[in-house]
Amino acid sequence: MPWTRRHLLTLEELTLDEIDQIHTTAAAFKRTLKRSVKKVPALRGKTIVNLFLEPSTRTRMAFDMAAKRLSADVISLDGNSSSTTKGETLRDTAENIQALQADMIVIRHAAAGSPLYLSNILNIPVINAGDGAHEHPTQGLLDTFTMREHLGSLKGRRVVILGDILFSRVARSNIHALTKFGADVTVVGPSTLVPEWFAALGVKVSHDLRSALADAEVVMLLRIQHERQSRGMFPSLGEYTSMFGLNKTRASWLNPKAIIMHPGPINRGVEIDSDLADGERSVILEQVTNGIAVRMAVLYLCSGGQPEYVHATE
Ligand code: CP
Repeated sequence: MPWTRRHLLTLEELTLDEIDQIHTTAAAFKRTLKRSVKKVPALRGKTIVNLFLEPSTRTRMAFDMAAKRLSADVISLDGNSSSTTKGETLRDTAENIQALQADMIVIRHAAAGSPLYLSNILNIPVINAGDGAHEHPTQGLLDTFTMREHLGSLKGRRVVILGDILFSRVARSNIHALTKFGADVTVVGPSTLVPEWFAALGVKVSHDLRSALADAEVVMLLRIQHERQSRGMFPSLGEYTSMFGLNKTRASWLNPKAIIMHPGPINRGVEIDSDLADGERSVILEQVTNGIAVRMAVLYLCSGGQPEYVHATE
């Protein structure tokens, strides 16, 4: 199947075949990253603008790195140094970026739906790097890519997402991808952060950590997203940790071969103990590294590239 999408806005709208195509392309790019010369000429002559109007370490640097490995020119703009601080609208900022001849825009924004909005007014591809609590599609793609590297097929695999599900775009994107792969997904945490209506997305909802973690093959921790919460969703961070933080005892309830994941940034000692975050079951830094290859695949395919070319350059 040829790749036909120009934008990457959500994982909800992608088919399983499309996710698989991104993963296959990412795997080929990952092999090129192991060579002494890591660059491929796939996007030579193209200019990619990373417009990050919300803070980011991993996503922004991985998109920068991915574009450079594809030989594109990259310009990064953040909220503090852009004219949005002077009252310019998102629409005007984006139209100016297009007028400056950018070939693609990668956007992170606090408002859900802003990438979709830009895709409707611009003529260049728009890539969602996280929009409010809505979606973070490249995170969901790199997380499922990492799971497939460790587990092979995800069909029937027991995956637990633990923490602040309600305000998490990472949880939503992973749920959309994992359910397409046929994984057995449970979301768990306090009832204020894990409402029952998540079951409508095809996952199990639990507030009982012990039964949720029992024999799970993957546990993905999520940070408490204070920046999106307008009121306290639990009495204190200490109470959250005592009830739902992952520690050595609770990790012993997992399947012995289980992997521990976290999209970052980590709040050590809150949702996860340091010895687990740095332990041998943790794949947290692998996730970060895989973010480069997965974003290379997304930038390349949405620029009009086809997977055959990548295999030919290997
Ligand atoms: N996982 C993630 O989105 O991290 P950053 O906010 O640092 O980009």
